[in-house]
Amino acid sequence: MKSILNIGQSKLIFVENFILGTTYRSIDSLYKKDQGKVAFTAPSNIALVKYWGKRPVQLPENASLSFTLSECRTETSITYKRRKDKGVGFSIAFLFEGEPKLSFEPKIHTFFDRIAPYCLFLNDFEFIINSKNTFPHSSGIASSASGMSALAMCLVEIENELGGSLSAEERIEKASFLARLGSGSACRSIEGPITIWGKHQKIKGSSDEFAVPFEHEIASVFKNYQDTVLLIDKGEKQVSSTVGHNLMHGHPFAKTRFEQANANLDKLSSVLQNGDIAQFIEIVESEALTLHAMMMTSLPYFILMKPNTLEMINSIWNYRKETGVPVCFTLDAGANVHVLYPEKDKEAVLAFIEAELAEKCQNRQYICDYLGIGIKKM
Ligand code: PMV
Repeated sequence: MKSILNIGQSKLIFVENFILGTTYRSIDSLYKKDQGKVAFTAPSNIALVKYWGKRPVQLPENASLSFTLSECRTETSITYKRRKDKGVGFSIAFLFEGEPKLSFEPKIHTFFDRIAPYCLFLNDFEFIINSKNTFPHSSGIASSASGMSALAMCLVEIENELGGSLSAEERIEKASFLARLGSGSACRSIEGPITIWGKHQKIKGSSDEFAVPFEHEIASVFKNYQDTVLLIDKGEKQVSSTVGHNLMHGHPFAKTRFEQANANLDKLSSVLQNGDIAQFIEIVESEALTLHAMMMTSLPYFILMKPNTLEMINSIWNYRKETGVPVCFTLDAGANVHVLYPEKDKEAVLAFIEAELAEKCQNRQYICDYLGIGIKKM
């Protein structure tokens, strides 16, 4: 397969050919369409081995591995139309749930600026982007992974409709590459059920530039694995991920942490194949607590867990000990708790959540999700 760089170059050659055409009109006529509409839905993902720490531009300091989810999704459509007068800058209107959302436009412009060298049509069209999430508004669930991956895939599809020459496989890779430039972890949402992002010695085809699907057959216990997200704090993020990642520069434990993550990924890769759930639990919970330990030991320092986060973790540990049900938790860069368990234990775990954990959620709210396959065309 061509590397992304080659895809970029071949794209450049494609457009150079446009530019070598003598008149503006001849460039014009090379686009296969003047207008159209594309739509994709993309899921969120939850990292088991965490990405925390990056270098420019949006390249991870260690490899990470995540479960792609199913239910927590963003649905995005883009209507595009050839621009009559090419002005300065991009022509983008952003709607959230059908309503103009001006506050989001600067973010989209920054994203377009970043991806412009790889999507040379951006300045020639006007775009109306319409987006909505399937999960509750301001639930504290980050929508950047699902949002950026849906947006990236729409743009790759537009390029294809305009006459792009990438194969289906290359378009998936390019969407992951572009999504990464919007929000690092978003690159892991294009495919599923498990993806890996970041160059890792032992993972064939792994790259810092885009995510790849986990290449091995996974043990049956992990198929259709469940993730129930307990909503504790639905407020704005206390620390943006940009600020968070930057705290790893000069962090006293950074080097060891990056090595540990790569080692954990290696171990987890075996566990996902051999079905050793005790080891799975150990790696996943340790990763979650290490992520938070990194925040607690940076300068400035942060505690993103809330009292209820700790109470829930203790309840999960007690329940696991008493019943032997192999349920465990992971955390994102926030207070919400992701409860992970095999599908066969769904009934028992949901009864436990209702009885003991729901009362600790804001308005008793939690979201039942499970492993999914990634992006879908709408
Ligand atoms: O993609 P970002 O820049 O929002 O960073 C995400 C970082 C974590 O969610 C905390 C971990 C991860 O790997 O998803």
